[in-house]
Amino acid sequence: MSSRVFLTGGAGYIGSHTCLELLISGYDVTIFDNFSNSHIEAVKRVEAIAGKKVALIKGDIRYHEKVAQALRESKSQAVIHFAGLKAVGESVENPLVYFDNNLAGSLSLLQAMREVGLKTLIFSSSATVYGEPQYLPIDEKHPLSVTNPYGRTKLMIEDILRDISSSDEDWSIGILRYFNPVGAHDSGRIGENPIGVPNNLVPYITQVMAGRLEKLRIWGNDYPTPDGTGVRDYIHVMDLARGHVKALEQISDHRCLALNLGTGIGYSVLDIVNTFADVCGQAVPFDMYPRRAGDIATCYADPKRAKDLLGWTAERDLKQMCSDHWRWQQRNPNGYL
Ligand code: NAD
Ligand code: UFG
Repeated sequence: MSSRVFLTGGAGYIGSHTCLELLISGYDVTIFDNFSNSHIEAVKRVEAIAGKKVALIKGDIRYHEKVAQALRESKSQAVIHFAGLKAVGESVENPLVYFDNNLAGSLSLLQAMREVGLKTLIFSSSATVYGEPQYLPIDEKHPLSVTNPYGRTKLMIEDILRDISSSDEDWSIGILRYFNPVGAHDSGRIGENPIGVPNNLVPYITQVMAGRLEKLRIWGNDYPTPDGTGVRDYIHVMDLARGHVKALEQISDHRCLALNLGTGIGYSVLDIVNTFADVCGQAVPFDMYPRRAGDIATCYADPKRAKDLLGWTAERDLKQMCSDHWRWQQRNPNGYL
């Protein structure tokens, strides 16, 4: 019998790509999502690409009894917890919404898991829990600190998971700290579907190239980086998806394991702009602006621990990240609508 994985937030950007990778790897999947930031069409397309059905439940993780019932009925062997809100600026303006959705939602899920005796969990954390980098590349021993309510929810959930793990040895918990996920499945049928004007660099650029936005605004060219623009560790979402499958395979050997999922390579905003120009065959129009509040200069992972413990490394390069993201944008100018 194949094993079933329960994905909270599985209809979203990273969840839908991970769902596809799980199906292709032989797992069955149940998605539990309230569709607050996603579309049912994403799940239909995943099913079509994989040639396999997904069990889909519309629900909110904050409704503990509904989650417990869904977990019990799905007979899942593990949970991957993607569900959450993720806009840093919005979290500063509306912290209670973030504490309610992300923190209370996670507590409700964890209680439901304990109730049904399911104690294997992979959690979507973020490089944001490292705060302002004190050294580079950032390994998992780097001190943890946060600068906004979104990041605080991630760190608080991580702390809760560490406490649960210390209190009960039956739990197996993987905390995956994503760096900057970009790209799309190479079919061009699923991808990132931001609502409104994107905050993140890569979806903003693809919308400029598609003519939906006029010009990229580059937030700062006076950082202490080789070309003055911010440097990040961009990782292809399909590599990230494979990281989850690898983590699932290994997690029973661990009680609570935090891992970076990044490439270990930092690229500047101008590196990304130039790669898109290459992929799209035309220059990316941009203007320089002052730094964006809260941004850091440079951030990239030391991904060695994931390599040593999971046998996982990111394989896709920057050009592939940009060309796959661009293919998705071109084929789906209005996202899933
Ligand atoms: P996304 O918004 O595309 O997906 C999140 C999914 O969770 C959506 O389908 C949404 O409808 C669902 N959801 C939200 N609140 C819910 C609730 N209360 N109950 C049920 N479903 C709910 O985001 P994503 O980019 O796929 O991110 C997935 C996870 O990874 C998030 O936890 C995010 O914080 C984390 N993460 C994302 C990034 C990134 O840059 N994309 C980086 C680091 C960490
Ligand atoms: N940038 C621009 N113009 C834009 C958007 C971004 O110049 O329109 C620059 C930023 O200043 C930064 C780089 O592009 O130097 C990357 O910015 P993103 O907004 O794409 O990504 P961040 O690294 O700022 O943040 C992302 C997620 C956070 C998460 C963090 C660490 O949005 O939620 O990665 O994982 F916390």
